[in-house]
Amino acid sequence: MPRTLLVTTALPYANGPLHLGHILEGVLADIWVRYQRTRGADCLFLCADDAHGTAVMLKARELGISPEALIDEVRRDHQRDFRSFGIDFDHYHTTHSEENRRLVEACYGRLRDGGHLRRRSIVQNYDEDLGLFLPDRYIRGRCPRCGAEGQYGDNCEVCGSSYDATELRDPVSVLTGRPPGRRASEHLFVDLESLAAPLRAFVHGGAVPEAVAHKLDEWLTGRLNDWDITRDAPYFGFPVPGEADKYFYVWLDAPLGYLATLRSWATPERAEEIFERYWGRDSEAEIHHVIGKDIIYFHALFWPALLTVAGWRLPTRLSTHGFLTVRGLKMSKSRGTFVTARDAASALDPEAFRYYFAARAREGIDDLDLDPDELVARVNADLVGKVINIAARSVPFLDTDDGRPRTASACAAPDLYARALAAGDEIAEAYEGRDFARAVRTVLALADETNAFIAQSQPWVLRRDPSGHARAREIATLGVGVYRLLALYLGPILPGLRARSEAFLGIPLDRWSAPPPLLDHRLNPYRPLLERLPRPAAQGLFANGGPHRG
Ligand code: 2FM
Ligand code: ZN
Repeated sequence: MPRTLLVTTALPYANGPLHLGHILEGVLADIWVRYQRTRGADCLFLCADDAHGTAVMLKARELGISPEALIDEVRRDHQRDFRSFGIDFDHYHTTHSEENRRLVEACYGRLRDGGHLRRRSIVQNYDEDLGLFLPDRYIRGRCPRCGAEGQYGDNCEVCGSSYDATELRDPVSVLTGRPPGRRASEHLFVDLESLAAPLRAFVHGGAVPEAVAHKLDEWLTGRLNDWDITRDAPYFGFPVPGEADKYFYVWLDAPLGYLATLRSWATPERAEEIFERYWGRDSEAEIHHVIGKDIIYFHALFWPALLTVAGWRLPTRLSTHGFLTVRGLKMSKSRGTFVTARDAASALDPEAFRYYFAARAREGIDDLDLDPDELVARVNADLVGKVINIAARSVPFLDTDDGRPRTASACAAPDLYARALAAGDEIAEAYEGRDFARAVRTVLALADETNAFIAQSQPWVLRRDPSGHARAREIATLGVGVYRLLALYLGPILPGLRARSEAFLGIPLDRWSAPPPLLDHRLNPYRPLLERLPRPAAQGLFANGGPHRG
């Protein structure tokens, strides 16, 4: 039986364009999915837009369109951007869907009937001008602990403390700049403490990296706070059945969107069977959520709590990554470090980003810093200068047959070829553990060794004398054979390069394998497999807010 896998990335909010941070996450997940498929796994890769919440509602108001029109347009753009980076979801849905509404209502019914809900009145900031309860991120003021100015309603970026939005000093509404009023209203809360035992078991059962489990213990060893799952009108979301002017909080329906997307991917006749195959209690599938470190809390506490109450299985793994920074700075519009996916894809070959992210990323919580000069150097010096170079410098020493190069019937340095084959296991292990940087390092070490062998063997010197022709061909045959392995090993990271290499080699590279050297094989005429990156385009992308749009 092949391994059955379901992989998701976090669902992007439908209130604006994707940026390079979304692309980093999509690339990391996509590489793993492509690798698993080369191993024969049955791997489903899903995503959707996270369509609800105050931000979407306000953005639609600002544009003078309905939230539905906004989320449709944004979803099209998000799909286009993911595709342009080769991030190839099997299905891309939306949380604003009938499938999701039904799942949310089913889950709510189980929370209510299982006695997990509490009702109580809370006081919140209220924008009197707009007639709107203000989410924490829409309030700014002085930190109640350290006095720092300009802090949001949930926590202080200066001293790191968390507090209640009503504690903020001299608060103003971010929307109107005026001090908010206060209003009380009734909300529904999930009693998380009643679910503490399964949550602890989940966090310590191998679902999260060790360091993350340790961090989550800070919450899990104390008493878990109740979780507020309702929001007052006006709000864009699903109404709470039987409650006037109440909506489900976006973070209740967002993760259920993973399930809704699966249901929407399946044909109606098979929806139940497919749902059970992945999310049923006895499912043998593996479920992997790829997420940023900022939303671990939601996925490690709230999400398994909902699944437990609903009677569905829990995810196998939360694969986490840190933030993307640019030259050591957070992405920000004013600093010119905020780069949309669209601008990035039009400035540089999107595979350059895939390669750079893979070469730098590890699972965990460390941030990944993007330095444009380093990106150009790694692609040009390592990928083009070392890996592609092996094919480019070998082909001229082969004989041609109808204009097509043909490899010799023997390969120089079988021991070197054997080492390149044996490295396949180490590279596979690195992919499996999502240590893509290690996979790339191992490939580059093989490329170095192969280039050194070619340089020492000097086929261009051998070529000068007819007696050396045969040896020169065998050296080139080794080069092309090793190149084939390296293209196979890099295939999950660089699907475009893989496709061009398949066309050149005339063989598929879609299965992880350990093939013998490519002997007596007719290749296709060599055309450059990858261009060098222009340094100015990379630098321009990260200067003053990116390239200008016409
Ligand atoms: O943080 C975010 O961008 C959320 N939109 C992620 C949601 S992931 C899942 F739970 F839906
Ligand atoms: Zn502070």
